[in-house]
Amino acid sequence: MRNPIVAGNWKMNGSASFAAKMSQQVNVFAAGLNVEVVLSPPSVYLSQVQQAAESYSTAAQNVHFAASGAFTGEMSVSMLQDLGCEYVLVGHSERREMFAENEQFVAKKVAAVVGASLQPILCIGETLEQRHSGQAFDVVKQQLLSAISGLELTAGQLVIAYEPIWAIGTGETATPEQAQEIHSYIRGVLAEQVSAEMADKTRILYGGSVNAETASQLFSQPDIDGGLVGGASLKIEDFKNICSAAANR
Ligand code: 13P
Repeated sequence: MRNPIVAGNWKMNGSASFAAKMSQQVNVFAAGLNVEVVLSPPSVYLSQVQQAAESYSTAAQNVHFAASGAFTGEMSVSMLQDLGCEYVLVGHSERREMFAENEQFVAKKVAAVVGASLQPILCIGETLEQRHSGQAFDVVKQQLLSAISGLELTAGQLVIAYEPIWAIGTGETATPEQAQEIHSYIRGVLAEQVSAEMADKTRILYGGSVNAETASQLFSQPDIDGGLVGGASLKIEDFKNICSAAANR
């Protein structure tokens, strides 16, 4: 059985006092909950949120693939190791679209993260146009394989987040059936291209307008192993309910 993950991607939201309050409350409700809760605050609060962690893990929202050097504004994997941070979001559609991160760039980041024994949460997903033209499967396969080809991955080290771009921040969620169809396809690609063990142990999260109402049905699908939650992770009650839905699936 794969242990579910619910990760809260705060994106560029929050403050020091929000981070303190959220950390404290998540520590309380996540204790004893049969789900791995992950908080992904803006990098400036990552150290604070990591230091307060008792019953959750943390994810960086970004990392650079170089070990060090003249990369103003960036952080390296060893800096994240220093903090005790375990996960890194890689390939989020907002970074692909707004910061021009192409597949080569994403692959280098995944390699750096894996090389440092951290866990990438690799985000993949199609646009509405791609879905309508029947390309959703090909797009996620290409994004997945270009990001991991040539890597020596330990089974379970990679976490994948299927985030259809049309469902991010739009209030429009993929139906449980639509999400399950892609998740099961992704697992099949892993089985075919990597190994059956890899396919079996990889947690595949759904992201895209997950909320307290939609979470249970999504997480009850056999290939949905939790969620990557944006907007609803900023509201403690909603986030708590989503985490409980994953624990009770
Ligand atoms: P929303 O939950 O706000 O749609 O964001 C999803 C997301 O992009 C998480 O990484």
